[in-house]
Amino acid sequence: MKALVLSGGTGSRLRPITHTAAKQLVPVANKPVLFYGIESLVAAGVTDVGIIVGDTAAEIRAAVGDGSRFGARVTYLPQEQPLGLAHAVLIARDWLGDDDFVMYLGDNFVVGGITELVEEFRRSRPDASILLTKVADPSAFGVAELGPEGGVLRLEEKPREPRSDLALVGVYLFTPAVHEAVRAIRPSARGELEITDALQWLVDAGRTVRSTVISGYWKDTGNVTDMLEVNRTVLEALPPAVLGEVDGDSELVGRVRIEAGASVVRSRIVGPAVIGAGSVVRDSYIGPSTSVADGCVISGSEVEFSIVLDDSRIENAGRIEGSLIGRMVRMSGAARAPRAHRLVLGDHSQVQIAP
Ligand code: TTP
Repeated sequence: MKALVLSGGTGSRLRPITHTAAKQLVPVANKPVLFYGIESLVAAGVTDVGIIVGDTAAEIRAAVGDGSRFGARVTYLPQEQPLGLAHAVLIARDWLGDDDFVMYLGDNFVVGGITELVEEFRRSRPDASILLTKVADPSAFGVAELGPEGGVLRLEEKPREPRSDLALVGVYLFTPAVHEAVRAIRPSARGELEITDALQWLVDAGRTVRSTVISGYWKDTGNVTDMLEVNRTVLEALPPAVLGEVDGDSELVGRVRIEAGASVVRSRIVGPAVIGAGSVVRDSYIGPSTSVADGCVISGSEVEFSIVLDDSRIENAGRIEGSLIGRMVRMSGAARAPRAHRLVLGDHSQVQIAP
């Protein structure tokens, strides 16, 4: 069995972060979201991994390499344009050969892994198998309608009037039967080859498409709110440790991880939180559900329920909450009057100011 991991795409919902970086590499508890996916594939015994890459190919390659450090063998499969999830299967045809495969969306997060699902698929081997989860707002997802016996009847991508509250989770299991389906379907109204259409094609052709409703936690980290939420969940299970320096005037409360070379001076950190290698937290408060990546400086500020990426400086900036801050960002308080907001924001930046 092989794995097809999708790490191309546009990432429009995570702009401006995705103007300069791959969304699959945004860290959750200081580890790229993509790495959790690769780890759960390897844990399920799937080590032959093909990664679909787009504009951010170089960055993904640099981060994942040949996959050996995950115990995987990685092959990169360039996709010229993000023409849809089923398009990714289409272009991976030669690499996939006649093997069964797991398709895993590189920005998805499934707590509890996929080992049981892969084992069940290997045992019963339907033509395809999908994972579903109940969601509050199905119209934002691919939605499945099940028959009385639990078989998949109908699938729709982002329906205006959803027929159920069961959304497709970004992990799919396929036999080579899917190749005929992805060749047969046509692009949708949004111009993409939809995997839901390929699955519907299989259903209509009388193939078996099984579904499993998972009760565990699943999130698509495609937008900032979900990203922060996944970060919060992962931090809750992070092993606490102090590998860096914490001075006598500082206080760590709850599950806090201070990485090697980080220093905490006259500050209070309330977990769950992680401070990355080489970062400095000075005269500050770091609140729950916060990940500060490597090489950052947080000084005279308060940061809570946020993700701060590498090498950013936040100095005398007041209180920051519910924020995703990119790499090498500079934020500082106005040193003298006028106490105005001075901003240099990239395209599609979002700022909410507390006057
Ligand atoms: P999406 O999040 O559905 O698409 P996107 O990355 O274009 O994001 P947005 O809607 O914010 O513009 O994609 C799910 C995953 O699949 C994600 O990791 C990107 C990847 N992907 C591809 O590799 N190729 C594709 O053609 C598409 C559509 C997505």
